[in-house]
Amino acid sequence: MEQKSVYPFEIIKKGLEHPIQLPASLEIELQDFETYCLNHTSELNRSDINRFIWDGARFYWQDLEAGNLEIDFTSKKLQYRMQKLNKAQEPLLRAVGWKSTERQRIWDLTAGLGRDSALLYFAGLQVLMFERNPVLQTLLQYGLAQLSQPVGQADIGTAVDPYLYLMPEDAIAFLQNRGSQEMQRSDIAIPLADVIYMDPMYPERKKSALVKKELRIIRNLVGADLDNELLLKKALASGVPRVVVKRPKGAEFVADLKPSHSVESPNTRFDVYLQHPVETLSR
Ligand SMILES: C[S@@+](CC[C@H](N)C(=O)[O-])C[C@H]1O[C@@H](n2cnc3c(N)ncnc32)[C@H](O)[C@@H]1O
Repeated sequence: MEQKSVYPFEIIKKGLEHPIQLPASLEIELQDFETYCLNHTSELNRSDINRFIWDGARFYWQDLEAGNLEIDFTSKKLQYRMQKLNKAQEPLLRAVGWKSTERQRIWDLTAGLGRDSALLYFAGLQVLMFERNPVLQTLLQYGLAQLSQPVGQADIGTAVDPYLYLMPEDAIAFLQNRGSQEMQRSDIAIPLADVIYMDPMYPERKKSALVKKELRIIRNLVGADLDNELLLKKALASGVPRVVVKRPKGAEFVADLKPSHSVESPNTRFDVYLQHPVETLSR
């Protein structure tokens, strides 16, 4: 059996009195901080070690240089944003072709903190998130458990309500294997999506001091998504009729592939690819 990666985990303050309920589905092993330090003395200086923390109320990743990162799908901020959302005008929803009368299925190939996925879910879509980074997978799994959403590869083919699931794996491998016999046996319950969405890490900006704290932490964890061209090509070859790519305003098209159209917002552009075979998209 494949060994789980081990990450340090510290319980502080009121966390000692209030035990944490971690989802059974965690893909990584959390090791008591003291034990982890004992096992990693040769690699790291104790004060340099980033770690998961439980403080009795919040479970988060502590990046000692950039700050704390947590995923809370139940936060007041998110609820407020969803209450105020004008669904017909929201650029992401326009890009994915949201309709009040349909429950589209969407694969978010680059879940990250799950913010875009959460917006899509609360707007009524059935969302399957993919994330390959173990720290982000863990935060997403915890966030989903708080939301009481099932995680993993359950029988989602029959679900009719909106849902938000996590596939803790690389989306390129998923798209690649989807057609293979083995995959057809094990993932028979995953129907083809109506829309694919991807938001790979942007190229590093020069004005790095202006980069938001969350983005800095994610960058420290995952670096740049250098295989985003391959991801887009696999998405376009997947048979899913609509593929949406989030880009910074003014950025090049991913893989130099011209979209059918784009939806613009002040800082962001959503490139929408409709049903074209890959060959005809090259500029
Ligand atoms: C810019 S972040 C996405 C932010 C996200 N849209 C949100 O709203 O929070 C990009 C994320 O995609 C993940 N990612 C990139 N390529 C991936 C792939 N092939 N499979 C799974 N995850 C991927 C990275 O690990 C990173 O966490």
